[in-house]
Amino acid sequence: MNAVKIGLCGLGTVGSGTFRLLHEDEGNIAAHARCPLTLTHIGARRDHPDCDTANYQVSRDIFAVVDDPEVDIVVELIGGTTVAKDLVEKAIANGKHVVTANKALIAEFGNELFAAANAAGVALRYEAAVAGGIPIIKALREGLSANQVSWLAGIINGTGNFILSEMRDKGREFADVLAEAQALGYAEADPTFDVEGIDAAHKLVILAAIAFGTPLQFSSVYCEGITRLTPEDVDYAEELGYRIKHLGVARRSERGVELRVHPTLIPEHRLLANVNGVKNAVLVEGSAVGPTLYYGAGAGAAPTASAVVADVVDLARDLGAGQQPRVAHLGFDCQALQDLPVVPMADVETAWYLRMEAEDRPGVLSDIASILSQQGISIEALIQKAPEEGESRVPVIILTNVAAQGKLDSAVAAIEALPSITNGIARIRVESLDG
Ligand code: HSE
Repeated sequence: MNAVKIGLCGLGTVGSGTFRLLHEDEGNIAAHARCPLTLTHIGARRDHPDCDTANYQVSRDIFAVVDDPEVDIVVELIGGTTVAKDLVEKAIANGKHVVTANKALIAEFGNELFAAANAAGVALRYEAAVAGGIPIIKALREGLSANQVSWLAGIINGTGNFILSEMRDKGREFADVLAEAQALGYAEADPTFDVEGIDAAHKLVILAAIAFGTPLQFSSVYCEGITRLTPEDVDYAEELGYRIKHLGVARRSERGVELRVHPTLIPEHRLLANVNGVKNAVLVEGSAVGPTLYYGAGAGAAPTASAVVADVVDLARDLGAGQQPRVAHLGFDCQALQDLPVVPMADVETAWYLRMEAEDRPGVLSDIASILSQQGISIEALIQKAPEEGESRVPVIILTNVAAQGKLDSAVAAIEALPSITNGIARIRVESLDG
C-alpha cells in the first residue's frame, strides 16, 4: 500500500481539531484507511496553543503546502471565499485532491470548483461543510442513492440552535448566548452569518443539490434569520403545542424546488423539535426508505474534525490502493444534473403563526377572520388574552391552515390596515414535517 500524504492548511478551531485527531489517533485512522496516512506539511499563519507542531514541517505561507510535490491531499480549513478559493483552485491545478469544511466556498463556487476538479481528475470532498460531525453528505450522496428525495428539513446551524435553546430553557438574553457560542468556537468569524441564516443557507444549498441532483443554487435561497424572534412568540408557540426552530427546508415539487431558511413552528412531539443546544439534525424523506433522521454535534473543533478526517480516510482508501476516487461530487454524474427552477416564495405553501395587537372591542376578530377568509385562509387555532389592567389592546395569536405566502401577504397587509390593529403583525411559518 502507498502512504498517503496530507497537507493541512489552517490551524483555527477546525484546523486544530483536525491536527489533534490526525496526530493523536493515527493508528485508528490508518487502520480505517487501510494504508499509512502521514501529515507531511502544515500551512498556518500562526501557531495554535493546543497543537504541538514541533515535529512537523510548518510554512507560514499556506500556498507552500499546495506547491509541495509530496502532498497528495490538501485539507483547506482557512475559511472564507477569497484566499481559500485561490488555494483550492491552485491545489486542483496542481493535481491534488482537496478536503474542505468550507460551506461558503462550496455553496457559492462549488459548480466551478467541481468542474475544475473533474477536468483535473481529482476529488473535492466537503463532508464537514454541513452539520459538523454528522455524516449527512455521505448519507445523502451514497447511503440514499437508491431513493428519490422529495424533501428534507434540518436544523443546520449549531450557533442559532444553541441560542434558541438557551433563550427558551433558561430565559437567557440573545447577545449573552451568542457571546458564549463565539467563545466555544461554534460561531462563524462573522456571527451574523449564523443568526441571519446565511450559514444555514450555504448548507441547505449543498444538501439540496445532492438530494435533487441540481447544480448549487446559492443566489436563489430565501433566507430569514432568528434576530426578530421574541420571547412572547416562543411562549405562545409553546401554548399552542409547538417549538420554534430555525430550519432549512428543501422540497421538490412539480414546479421546481423550494429552498428556504427561516424560523419555523414545529409540533413539539416531533424529534426535530427536541433537538437542542449546538446539536444539528436533518430529516430526509426518501422514496424507498421513507423518513430518516440524522442527528449529532453541528459545530465545534472535534466533531467537525471527525467529518474532515472521514473524508481524508475515504480518499486515502482509494489512493492507497492506487485507484482514483469514483464518487461524483454531488453524487450524480455531472451530465445528469438538472437545472430545476426555484419556486418563488409567493407560491410556497405553509401554515402560519400570526401575532398581532388588537383593540379589545366587538367585531375586531370577525374583521380579521373575514380578511383571511377572502384569501381562502382558514383559522386552525386562536388565542386571545384578556387585557391587562387599564389596557385597551390585547394580543391575538392565530394559527392558519396551509396558504401560499402571496395570499398570506395580501391578508396581512389588509389586516394591518385595520384601525383596530396597532403595530405590525409578526408571522412565522409552521411545518408539520409529516410529508
Ligand atoms: N457556525 C456554524 C454553526 C459552524 O454554528 O453551525 C458549523 O458549520
